[in-house]
Amino acid sequence: MALNASASTRSSTGGGDTGLVFDPDAWTKLTTTVTDTEGTEHAVTYHFWKAITYVAKPVDATYQSLNVSVPVEIDGTAVDASDAPILFANSVGGYMPSSVADATGVGGASMGGGTGGGAPSGAPTASASASAPGANGNTNATGGAMNTNQLLALAAGYVVVEPGARGRGLKNSAGEYYGSAPAVIVDLKAAVRYVRSNKGRIPGDTDRIVSAGTSAGGAVSTLLGASGDSPLYDKYLREIGAADASDAIFAVGAWCPITDLEHADGAYEWNWGTNTLSTGKQVDQSVSKDLRAQFAEYQATVRLRGLKGSGFGTLTARNYDAYLLKQYMEPAATTHLAALSDSERETYLAKNTFITWDGEKARFTWADYLTHVGARKKSVPAFDAFDLSAGENNEFGSATTANRHFTAYGARNDTTGLSTKRVESDIPELLNLMNPMYHLVEKVNSKRSRHWWIRLGTNDTDTSHVISANLAARAENLGDEVNHLYYWDQGHGANTDPADFITWIAEVTG
Ligand code: DHB
Repeated sequence: MALNASASTRSSTGGGDTGLVFDPDAWTKLTTTVTDTEGTEHAVTYHFWKAITYVAKPVDATYQSLNVSVPVEIDGTAVDASDAPILFANSVGGYMPSSVADATGVGGASMGGGTGGGAPSGAPTASASASAPGANGNTNATGGAMNTNQLLALAAGYVVVEPGARGRGLKNSAGEYYGSAPAVIVDLKAAVRYVRSNKGRIPGDTDRIVSAGTSAGGAVSTLLGASGDSPLYDKYLREIGAADASDAIFAVGAWCPITDLEHADGAYEWNWGTNTLSTGKQVDQSVSKDLRAQFAEYQATVRLRGLKGSGFGTLTARNYDAYLLKQYMEPAATTHLAALSDSERETYLAKNTFITWDGEKARFTWADYLTHVGARKKSVPAFDAFDLSAGENNEFGSATTANRHFTAYGARNDTTGLSTKRVESDIPELLNLMNPMYHLVEKVNSKRSRHWWIRLGTNDTDTSHVISANLAARAENLGDEVNHLYYWDQGHGANTDPADFITWIAEVTG
């Protein structure tokens, strides 16, 4: 990416009473070449605004700032993006801090501690690499996927806003943690509010903000969509001096969202309970069984119907395997096989004899699918670990306690010496603040997004496939438009149809 002569250098967020007034002239002009998914190169010239602090009272501006990229010329033709959709692309991974402060252009965010700004010892290690492993073995495959979205969006003439956000592990000089839940979602909401309150100054249509993120970033993207304008966040937004504007967004893009965390342990065991770990060992089957029973109970109470056309009524622990198979896994394999040449398909089918191919459709059993995926990534419980070692234990930490339990079952079986054997009293509210399902099930938020793009790899064992399928079912049951597909044989963080996402944005915002 080449840095062109700039018309003006960046200044800090301009005047105004709140200090939250975007300076339309403070851009740097950049050029980049975007290779589209057909292999065609596009020359894109864009205006780039860097590291704009989006709250009046930042806790840590390293994270609470955003970048804006606005295309002005594509393949030699001038473009006017003043009414274009806005891709709001976070780079959250592993629920860790994400910063755009050092980015030199679109898609250049860093995760895992960013650059100084009080990042303490004990915080996640600084890393500019999008594939850096997280503190508890969470691997962030986030960067590549999201980067592609941003570049393709720019080449399509959209505005790209890239917010940073606080994340777990950040510790101040007083030794207090300041990035655990709900900091990430509060920051992203504040960033949306900043963009909307600067309508007309920041190019783009603030009524067509489309959020995107992968994994933990996918989770907070769905949460942003589900929780638009929820009063639950007001006190947190006030504390950091967020702009006074709506934080509702138009549409959600989410890749492998790691969400619904308080139900994720049960759903995980229902899905992957009998798969061995990469060591070849099975997890404790009595714990797995307890959790599976919890999933069955939850699923029975939430009462979700299968997607339209699936032929499935209420989804339960008994029919969910058949549902996932028919609705997602077999269609994914079918798409994959149909795209191969005859000889490639023959080779693939010879290696994967569990698949029956009738010339049009792939069919297989759930048990064979599980065997095909192989090792489960996580131990048991996958999210609220008895020894508090999961990243999510850290995400639900407090200012003074690094890692905490967030489920009754996790707390009851604690192995770290927790005398109460109960979750702390603030946990229930934190769970609501972090869970899109709360805003779609317990509340039916009328300010939610009505368009949902959800993607997952069939080999992804970072969470249960039920998590996304439940979210999709609930959104569609409420009448929203849902576009949810799986990528066959792909793992965590995959994004193999980014051009389709860009087209979908045009369709839903058009
Ligand atoms: C991510 C991955 C996980 O397995 C998890 O539990 C949380 C986050 C991630 O890649 O962002």
